[in-house]
Amino acid sequence: MVLNGEFQEYNAWLQPGAAIHTDGMKLDIREGVSEFAARECRDGVNRLYQDDIWKDDASFTVTISVDPAMPPEGYRLTGSDTGIEIAGADKNGVLYGVYAFIMHLRAGTEPACIRDETSPAVPMRVLNHWDNIDGQIERGYAGRSLFFSNNSICYDIERIRDYARLLASIGINQISINNVNVSKQSARLITTEMLPEVAGLAAIFRPFGIRLILSVSFNSPVMLGKLPTADPLDEQVARWWVKTADEIYRHVPDLAGLLIKADSEFQCGPEALGRTSADGANVIARALAPHGGILYWRCFVYNCMQDWRDTKTDRPKAAYEHFFPLDGAFEQNVVLQIKNGPSDFQVREPNSPLIGAMKRTKEGIEFQITQEYTGQQIDLYALAVQWEEIFSEPVSDTRLTCDLAGRESKAIVAVSNVGDNMNWTGHTLAQCNLYAFGRMAWNPKQTAREIIERWIRLTFGQDPLLIEPLTEMMLASRDAYEKYTAPLGIGWMVNVGHHYGPSVDGYEYSNWGTYHRADHEAIGVDRTRKGTGLTAQYHPYVASIYDDLETCPENLLLFFHRLPYHYRLKSGKTILQHIYDTHFEGVEDVKGFIATWQSIRPLLPESAYASVLERLHRQLKNAEEWRDVVNTYFYRKTGLPDERGRKIYGWGDV
Ligand code: GCU
Repeated sequence: MVLNGEFQEYNAWLQPGAAIHTDGMKLDIREGVSEFAARECRDGVNRLYQDDIWKDDASFTVTISVDPAMPPEGYRLTGSDTGIEIAGADKNGVLYGVYAFIMHLRAGTEPACIRDETSPAVPMRVLNHWDNIDGQIERGYAGRSLFFSNNSICYDIERIRDYARLLASIGINQISINNVNVSKQSARLITTEMLPEVAGLAAIFRPFGIRLILSVSFNSPVMLGKLPTADPLDEQVARWWVKTADEIYRHVPDLAGLLIKADSEFQCGPEALGRTSADGANVIARALAPHGGILYWRCFVYNCMQDWRDTKTDRPKAAYEHFFPLDGAFEQNVVLQIKNGPSDFQVREPNSPLIGAMKRTKEGIEFQITQEYTGQQIDLYALAVQWEEIFSEPVSDTRLTCDLAGRESKAIVAVSNVGDNMNWTGHTLAQCNLYAFGRMAWNPKQTAREIIERWIRLTFGQDPLLIEPLTEMMLASRDAYEKYTAPLGIGWMVNVGHHYGPSVDGYEYSNWGTYHRADHEAIGVDRTRKGTGLTAQYHPYVASIYDDLETCPENLLLFFHRLPYHYRLKSGKTILQHIYDTHFEGVEDVKGFIATWQSIRPLLPESAYASVLERLHRQLKNAEEWRDVVNTYFYRKTGLPDERGRKIYGWGDV
C-alpha cells in the first residue's frame, strides 16, 4: 500500500486519514490469533494515522481474540471507553474484524460506540478474472493483467499483496486468476511445469484468507494428456483427471477448485461428445473431491450459431433448458455458476429462471463487475443499484433472490473489473463496484445507498457536502445509462464485438440469438406462454407477473412482450414517445453529473477530480451518440415524430 498521508487512487477504500482522534492504543493479542492478523491491525491503524500510534501505556486497548462459537468467518466488534474487542470465528473472521475496525476509524465511528456483529451470507465469495496469459484481459477496461504477461505468470509481489488486502477487506475469499475462455497456453497452468508458479501466487493470497481457482479447459485430457478423447465416461479420461488433480493439490494444497466454461462459445464440452453436463462436471468433481476442491461449472450454455430467421429458438431459455433437467445429477462438490440474467449481463433483464429452480443442486449466481455492457469504465454506472434490484426479485410467492443465499446458493461470484492501472479500475468511481460486490456477497440484503455512501466515506472522507451529492449522483447513474441506451429491457443495441456505443441492429441479423425484431409497427419478443414460453420456466407466481401486461414491470416490457409503438405505458406516453423522451433525458442526466462533479471539486482530491471529469466528458459524447442513433432509428422505422419537436435525424436531413 502506498504510504502517503494524502489521498491516492491506489489506496482505494483503504485510504490513510482517520476521522477519529486517538492518543494511542495498545494491542492485546489473545491465543489463536495469527501474527499476520496482528500485523495487519498494527500496520493498518498506523497507516490510517500516518504515525506509530501503538503505545504500551495507552489507556485504550484493542483486544483481538478467536471465538469459535461464532458462525464461520464471522466477527464481532465491541467498543467501550477503555477499548475494543475484536473477536473472529476463525482465521478469516479475525482478519475481517481487523479490517472492519480500521474502516470504522476511517469512516468516523467513535471506537467506544462500535458495535458490529456479522457473518457472511454465503461461504464462497468469489472473483473471476478473465485474464489471458498473454497479459490482456478479456472485457478488461483497466489495463493489463496483474498476474500474467507474455504467456507466463508474472507479477509484482507488493501489488498482489495490496490487491489481496483490498479484496480481503471486503470479504472476498476465492479468486480465479485466468480467463474462462482457456487458450492453449493457459490450459498449461495445471501442468507440473507451471504449477510451482501458481503455488507462488497462491502463497501471497493465502494469509489474506483468499484461495485460488484455476479456469481449465474441458478438453485438457486431449490438449495436455494427449488422450484421443475428453469423453467424461471414458475410464482413461477419469484416471487422467484424478492424476491431474493429485498433481495440482501437491503444489497448491488449498486450491479452492477449478472453473469450467464448457459447450459454450466454441469452448469444448461434454454435450458436443454426446454426454450431459452432469457427466462432464462429475468426472472432474470426483477427482477434486478427495482434496476438498469445488468444481464451478458455468451455465452460460446456448447456441451461438443460431439462424436469425429461426423465431422458435430463444437464447434466454437456454440455460434452464440445459441444466434444469439435470437437477440432482451433479456431485456434491459441483457448483453451477449461473449468470444473473438469462441473456448476458445486460443493463436490464429479468433474473435467470434457473436461479433457485434446482432443489438438489448447489448453485452460485454470477455477476459482471467489469462493465462490458454498462459503459466500459468510461461511463459512470454504479452496479450496486442493479444488484440490489436483482437480489430483491422474487423467486416465488414467498422468497426473494437474496433469501437463497446460504441455502440453494453457496457462492456469489463476479467477473473482476481490475487491471494494472494505478487506480485498479480505470474509472476511479468504478472502484465502488468492486467494493460493492464484496459487500453484497457478504450480505445481499444491504442497500445500494448504504454501500455507496460507505464507500464514499472510506474513499473521499466525511464531508456531508461531498457525500450527499455524490451518493445521489452514483445512485442515479444506472438509471441514466439505461435511459440513453436500450429501452424497456430490450437490450443488445450495442456495437458488435467490443460492445461500446450504439448499433441498434448490430446483433439483429447475427447468429448470437439476440434479437429485438423491430419493424415499422412493433418491437420486442413475446416470451410469454403464448410466445417463446420463457416465462413458463419461472415459478408460477413469477411467471404470472411477467405474462400479464398489467403486472409485468415496465422496464422489462419489451423483454417479455412484443408491442406496437403506440402502446401506452402507465405514464400515458406511447412506447415510441418514451423512447424519445428517455434518450433525451439520459443525456441531460449526464450533463447533470458533470455539473455535480464540478460543484464538489473543492472537496475532492485533484487527481481523482480530473480523471473522473475527463471520463464524464467522454460519457457525454457516448450518451449523445446513443440518443441520436436510437432516436433516429425509431423515427426512420416509424415515420412518427417526437411530440416535442426535438432534433431527430430524419431522411430529409441526410
Ligand atoms: C460474454 C462476453 C464474452 C465472455 C462470455 C462468458 O459473451 O462477451 O467475452 O467470454 O460472456 O461469460 O463466457
